[in-house]
Amino acid sequence: MSEVVICEVGPRDGLQNASRRMPTEAKKRWIDALAAAGLREIEVGSFVPPKLIPAMADTADIVAHARTLPGVKVVALAPNVKGFERALSAGAHRITFPVSASRRHSAANVHMTPEAMIEQVRQCAARRGAQGPEIEGAVSTAFGCTLQGAVPEDEVVRIAAALAGFCDGVTLADTVGYANPAQVRRILRRVRGEIGDKLEGAHFHNTRGLGLANALAAFEEGVRSFDSSLGGLGGCPFAPGASGNVITEDLVFMFEAMGVPTGIDLEKLFAARALLVEAMPGEPVYGHTPLAGLPKGFRAAA
Ligand code: COA
Ligand code: ZN
Repeated sequence: MSEVVICEVGPRDGLQNASRRMPTEAKKRWIDALAAAGLREIEVGSFVPPKLIPAMADTADIVAHARTLPGVKVVALAPNVKGFERALSAGAHRITFPVSASRRHSAANVHMTPEAMIEQVRQCAARRGAQGPEIEGAVSTAFGCTLQGAVPEDEVVRIAAALAGFCDGVTLADTVGYANPAQVRRILRRVRGEIGDKLEGAHFHNTRGLGLANALAAFEEGVRSFDSSLGGLGGCPFAPGASGNVITEDLVFMFEAMGVPTGIDLEKLFAARALLVEAMPGEPVYGHTPLAGLPKGFRAAA
């Protein structure tokens, strides 16, 4: 049994910001390798206008493929009702909606105010039906914004509380890598005080090298669900200065070395990384653990 759940977001957060497109067949092979490594949640793409992010144009095909992998929860991002309907008909198991706490990022990313975006999510949650997918509200730019600077914590709490009214779970996202561990603890406590167990996950970027430190702070605050990206790909194309996510290989190593089972096999994860490198020649990939290798005598958590 894994004690933490790691959701691999590379195929979405990573490829949306990459300088080249990964061919559809290569994406499928990569996702197969991620599943073989033990990842049980994979955010495989987004349902955004293909003109806006061409790398996500094949998401319906990718969702259909990922659904054939036993035991994998197939996650997709949608920015509005139209994206939700596309995700629904493709058969995503969980649909994530980015709701910026920064008003400037909200305008740049989804051309809506945070309030209008919350209303889109509410409509989608109301339409999903009894057997419908899980709905996740992701509070983006929850720790600061490159466009706006500081983001009021009251706004983060208010948006998280609104989303908790109709979402299955709420995630806090450090879209641009501004967070620090003290801030992570403070904001998570405030949000948990407001929405309790609806606070599910944390999504960190490693822009200033604090991704793992922030993840550890969140773990110590009771978070058990983390987004990360193989090779540390990632970033929002509509948030200047955003760079890669916390690196899956290093995050898995940290937890396993601490004795916290993730259900993920590091050697197989390195094999998935090799496929990524092969499919995206020249794309920078990061990570300490894959370069250094596992420590002599290393044992994964039982
Ligand atoms: N999927 C496919 N097409 C969509 C769509 C979706 N989810 N949403 C809108 N469209 C189409 C509309 O039908 C319309 O098409 P038309 O020109 O042929 O009539 C066109 O796109 C413009 O629609 P509009 O509603 O005016 O949207 P917009 O141009 O203001 O863009 C969003 C709004 C939300 C669709 C866009 O900003 C977006 O996708 N943002 C997400 C960006 C992202 O993925 N960021 C990184 C992850 S956080
Ligand atoms: Zn992100």
